[in-house]
Amino acid sequence: MVDTRSINQQIRDFDGQQQVWLFGYGSLIYRPGFSYLESRPAFIKGWERRFWQGSHDHRGTMAQPGRVATLIEKPNAICHGMAFLITPEVFSYLDHRERNGYLRFSTPLYFSDEVQGTDKALVYVATPDNGAFLGPASELEIARHIAHCHGASGPNKDYLLNLHAALNKLGTPDPHVESIARHLLQSA
Ligand code: SIN
Repeated sequence: MVDTRSINQQIRDFDGQQQVWLFGYGSLIYRPGFSYLESRPAFIKGWERRFWQGSHDHRGTMAQPGRVATLIEKPNAICHGMAFLITPEVFSYLDHRERNGYLRFSTPLYFSDEVQGTDKALVYVATPDNGAFLGPASELEIARHIAHCHGASGPNKDYLLNLHAALNKLGTPDPHVESIARHLLQSA
């Protein structure tokens, strides 16, 4: 278990802003858990979603960490998700929830609803140098891993399947998530 809270509290990227767009690509899409002023489907560029981050708290334990989503830098990649317009009071909730390895980044944001447009977003990313990073594995191996993990927020399997359903509902399925979901459902 790592704790990125004090590092994140020193990041000044959004200082002075009364409202900030937060980009969610994992559990934040289907279970925000905080209040927000507005939400809009959106995407960011240059990052792809991968189940390469360990979860020692929400979806696993210290002895058996689960696997949850992070973003990996990749030129020309697009990651679809949900943007939430929040006020800075929400930062401490997010820093606590994302403390096991995630750092605050800022990135250009592209809205994908009918209004479209761009802005700047806050996004939590667990980079490969964090202590809870598990790294690449095949989608079959990831599914087998997820199938037997469970943490304080519930079964690891629910994280994956809820995210899969939310991305389908948004009309932006992710092949990596779909493939893990298929393996998980086949072995059920
Ligand atoms: C996110 O959803 O944006 C961050 C990763 C997670 O909490 O699942």
